[in-house]
Amino acid sequence: MTDAFVIAVDGPGGAGKGELTRRLAMRLGFALLDSGAIYRVLAYAARKAGLALFDEDSLVEEAKVLNLSFEAQDDGVHVMLNGEDVSSEIRSERTAEGASRVAALPRVREALLQRQRDFCMPPGLVADGRDMGTVVFPKADLKIFLDASPEERARRRVLQLTQAGREAVFELVLKEIEERDARDRNRPVAPLKPAEDAVLIDSTHLNIDEVLEKALELVRSKGIKV
Ligand code: DC
Repeated sequence: MTDAFVIAVDGPGGAGKGELTRRLAMRLGFALLDSGAIYRVLAYAARKAGLALFDEDSLVEEAKVLNLSFEAQDDGVHVMLNGEDVSSEIRSERTAEGASRVAALPRVREALLQRQRDFCMPPGLVADGRDMGTVVFPKADLKIFLDASPEERARRRVLQLTQAGREAVFELVLKEIEERDARDRNRPVAPLKPAEDAVLIDSTHLNIDEVLEKALELVRSKGIKV
C-alpha cells in the first residue's frame, strides 16, 4: 500500500458514493474498487447455486472461488461473473438485500478481504464501501464518510428506478433503505460507521458536483495536485 495513495469512501447506500468514487478515480487516474459489487455478486452467485444466505460454510467456499472481474467499457464499468455480464442483475433490490445478508457473516468478509486489498496499486485507489477506512484500508491516506438523510436517499433511489422505467413507491423504498441501514450498522463485524479519522460529507443538500469539489479539496489538502 506504500506507493499507492488510497482514498476510502464509506457511507450508507444511496449517499452518492458510487458516482463520487467513479468521478474521483477518473479525475485522478486511480483504480476503483466497488466493494459492494463484490458482496452483490456473491449473493447473486449463491442464489443461483441454490445456497441459503445464512449457510456461512458454503458461502465462504463460494466466496473463495468466485470468478469475478470488473471490465471498463465505454458506458462504464461492467461486472462479470464467470465471463457473463451481471451488471444489471446485481443492482436489483433482491440482490441488494441478499448482499446485505451475506455481508453480515464474519467469515465471508474475511474470505473477501485480500481480494479487495489486491485492487490497491500505484498511483492510487479509490475504494467505495462500508468498511474501507475501518477494516480493509485502515491506513488509507484520506477517509471520507459520505452520508445523506434516509428520506433523501430514498428520493434519489425512486428517481433512479422510475428513470429506468421501473415502478417505485417512496414509502417502500424508504423502509427497505432503513432496514438495510440497520443491518449494516448493527452487525457485530465491520459495521457501517465512520473511521475515527474520517472526514464527514453530508450530501443531503449537495449535488454531485458540489460533493466532488469538497472531496477534491480534501485530496488537495493531502498534497495531491488536481
Ligand atoms: O454499496 P452497495 O449497496 O452495493 O452494497 C451492497 C451491500 O453490501 C450493502 O448492504 C452492504 C454490503 N457491503 C458491506 O457490508 N461492506 C462493503 N464494504 C460494501 C458493501
